[in-house]
Amino acid sequence: PTTRYYEFELTKKKLSPDGFERVVWSVNKQYPGPLIIANKGDRLVIKVINNLEEESTIHWHGIFQRKTNWYDGVPGQTQCPITDGCSFIYNYTLDQSGTYWYHSHFLAQYVDGLIGPLIVYDPKDPYLGSYDEEYVVTIGDWYHNTTSVLLPLRMAPGYRGPNPVPDAILISGAGQYNCSSPAAGKNCNSKVTPATYNVKKGKKYRFRIINTSAYAFFFFTIDNHPLKIIEVEGTPVKDTDAATVKVLPIHIAQRYSVIVDCNQPIANYYIRAIIPDICLPRSNDTINYNSPITNATGILHYDGADSNKPTSTAYPLNLTPCEDLNATAIRPYEDNPPPTNVTNEFIFNITVSSDAKNVSVFNINNSSFVPIFENPSNQRILKHENFADFETSQNSYGYDTPNGCVQIILLNSLKTDHPFHLHGHTFWLIASGSGIDPKNLSTFNLKNPIIRDTATVPPESHLVIRYIADNPGVWAFHCHIEWHVELGMVAQLIERPTDFSKETLPGDVKELCVKYNSSKNKKR
Ligand code: C2O
Ligand code: CU
Repeated sequence: PTTRYYEFELTKKKLSPDGFERVVWSVNKQYPGPLIIANKGDRLVIKVINNLEEESTIHWHGIFQRKTNWYDGVPGQTQCPITDGCSFIYNYTLDQSGTYWYHSHFLAQYVDGLIGPLIVYDPKDPYLGSYDEEYVVTIGDWYHNTTSVLLPLRMAPGYRGPNPVPDAILISGAGQYNCSSPAAGKNCNSKVTPATYNVKKGKKYRFRIINTSAYAFFFFTIDNHPLKIIEVEGTPVKDTDAATVKVLPIHIAQRYSVIVDCNQPIANYYIRAIIPDICLPRSNDTINYNSPITNATGILHYDGADSNKPTSTAYPLNLTPCEDLNATAIRPYEDNPPPTNVTNEFIFNITVSSDAKNVSVFNINNSSFVPIFENPSNQRILKHENFADFETSQNSYGYDTPNGCVQIILLNSLKTDHPFHLHGHTFWLIASGSGIDPKNLSTFNLKNPIIRDTATVPPESHLVIRYIADNPGVWAFHCHIEWHVELGMVAQLIERPTDFSKETLPGDVKELCVKYNSSKNKKR
């Protein structure tokens, strides 16, 4: 194992990923941010220099942070925000492999561009010999307004409308905005090169697909090329017929690796990231379901093909919209059944209500999460006091059984889907189905359920997950639709406080809070 050093300077930078110029919250002036690569067992040392003129933190989505909970990057939960002009070094080892990503966890900053891929290789990856080369593909929705404009609209008292409508979809940071639209303005470039992946006929390619959206669920397809799924969020997938799909559903923060067999005639083929109409925000006005934002394209370019646009046609989309891949069809590569002895169970009811200011908020068990960056709660965590007296406004749930099995039953009474992410763990997705009566759940799969870190609970439905309490720390569990995070759809799991209270907090993490709490130039 080696130590790999990265330096991330966070700055605002004018960029035009879809042709439309806007200020982007960037890492090293790039969007998406730089690719991090490492091997399983390596240590990552990432110095984050914050020149954003506001606070920030970076979360390493899917990374366990064993014994380094304080580098998980969640402000108000695991660290204080990094103030403007300050730097902070994230320093952790990787005891896992697969496809991950990083993003700001400070307010909705990642929607403004602060994202990037993080890939961890494993010399023992069972699929290593099954492909020739690999590509990373990020897909995400994109907005022309900054979230400093969008969030206040979404959170306005009395507002009951849909989430902000994306202006474009980006594939690996490139999109095609219609510059002749009246909203385009003067600085619109209609000639953005679409994301293009060069391949050779007869070779096989691993594509690592990451959905970095604020809001959008996608169907991902490559015309004429079925996708053989080999990895779901760090867990290799068993080679079965069901693991090959033509259309891959992928919700926010989920990742898949697929193998693409380039056995078609030499030509160009469209790569498509499609938002199904039914997954777009619903309202009776403003939304044009045929607007170009519903379909973004990249190009699979065979060596020897001309440079003309592809003429390929899309696979039909006859899937249930906005839902994950059938979890009963995809198996982990190695048999790895969930524990059967549940030691701690939580039932989380997701509901909507309005707060004292008539803002429509989301609740978990009737409580909407409010991050407290000045963090009495967080500082208590940092001081390792008893979890029992954490603020209830912090939606805290504690358990203290070493290596116990935690079961979470998520009941979604809303009419929309929610991609839920658990920090610090992967989980077994043992049930998912319609209905929200905890006494009437769908049958549990205790044999070979899919293992992942982000799973979608469909409308008026439930999910049941299990994981092992093997990682003492404070872990967020939240919907990854960023507007829902801001409106409180977050819980924090206080895992084994007896054990983490014995760990020594690094001095720089403490110092961050001192700096933050004494900072006079907090912008948000
Ligand atoms: Cu990808 Cu709590 O986030
Ligand atoms: Cu949600």
